Amino acid sequence: MSRRIALPTLVAALAAALLAASAAQAQPTPRRQAELVRMVRQDCGSCHGMTLAGGLGPALTRRALADKPLDSLEAVIANGRPGTPMPPWRSMLHDGEARWIAERLVAGFPEESR
Ligand code: HEC
Repeated sequence: MSRRIALPTLVAALAAALLAASAAQAQPTPRRQAELVRMVRQDCGSCHGMTLAGGLGPALTRRALADKPLDSLEAVIANGRPGTPMPPWRSMLHDGEARWIAERLVAGFPEESR
C-alpha cells in the first residue's frame, strides 16, 4: 500500500530535482559559448578593436572594465546606448547571454578556439 503513495512522491521529487538542475545550468552550452566568443571577437571587435582594446568603441579589457558594475555592462550589451553607435544586441542573444558576455569581458575575454 505504501508504494501507491511513495511513487507520486518520488516522481514529484525527481521533477523538482530536474527543474533545479536546469535552473542552475543558466550557462550557455559549450557550443553556444564558442559562437558567442566568435561573435564578440568579430562583431564587437569591429568597433571595440580586434583585441577589444578600443577603437570607435571604448576598450572592453579586464582592466578597462574593472570598476564597472556587471548590471550596467549587461544592460549596455542588451540595449545598446542610445545616441551612440553602440547598438542593442538583445535580438541576437538568448536570455542570460548578455550577462554571460559581460562576465567574460570583466574576467578577460577568452580567445576564439580554432
Ligand atoms: C557600431 C559599433 C559598435 C559595435 C558593433 C559594438 N559596440 Fe559596444 N560600444 C560602442 C560605443 C561607441 C560605445 C560607447 C558608448 C558611449 O559613448 O557611452 C560602446 C560601449 C559598450 C560598452 C560599455 C563600455 C563602458 O565602458 O561602459 C560595452 C560593455 C559594450 N559596448 C559591449 C559591446 C559588445 C559586447 C558588443 C558586441 C556584442 C559591442 N559592444 C558592439 C560601439 C559599438
